[in-house]
Amino acid sequence: MSEAPTHAPQPDSKAEISRRDLFAKIGMMLNGLAVVVLATPVVGYLLAPILRGERGQYQRWVSLGDLDEFPEGQTRLAQFRNPISNAWDGDTDKIPCWVRRLTGEQFQVFAINCAHLGCPVRWFPQSGLFMCPCHGGVYYQDGSRASGPPPRGLFQYSYKVEDGKLMIEAGQIPTLSTTASLQTRSGGCQG
Ligand code: FES
Repeated sequence: MSEAPTHAPQPDSKAEISRRDLFAKIGMMLNGLAVVVLATPVVGYLLAPILRGERGQYQRWVSLGDLDEFPEGQTRLAQFRNPISNAWDGDTDKIPCWVRRLTGEQFQVFAINCAHLGCPVRWFPQSGLFMCPCHGGVYYQDGSRASGPPPRGLFQYSYKVEDGKLMIEAGQIPTLSTTASLQTRSGGCQG
């Protein structure tokens, strides 16, 4: 008399299934851990300005000094503190700029960076020109391009006069996409 076939699972295959489940769960946990590790710096970067209360400080009006520090008809070097700096930035948060006072409350405040590759330009009152030491870029006293590789004039900060002080809108270097304007030789304004 033959024995009836049995379909009961073998003890070995049961153990195989539970081992597979265990590895799958460990794999999912490791994937989750990797996502958390990778996402933490990104989320921290995105939330940092809000958490540190810097929202709206990116562009702020900062003082360059009293009006009488800038004689009419002259161009002077000034500097201001980057409004979004940290205490440990030291002197690196001091940003220079060139201030040209035309008459009264009419000014031009130029970013110090050359419009070519960003080297600091220098003012030469004898020739009435800004010159760049890197590749020979030259600008007229109104910031417009005179010669050399720069594709345009010097970038300018927005400014206003308040309580006898010259204020500029600082926080980011002026560019074509922010508050920059290009003074043409005829005194018009582009971009
Ligand atoms: Fe000024 Fe190149 S960076 S001319």
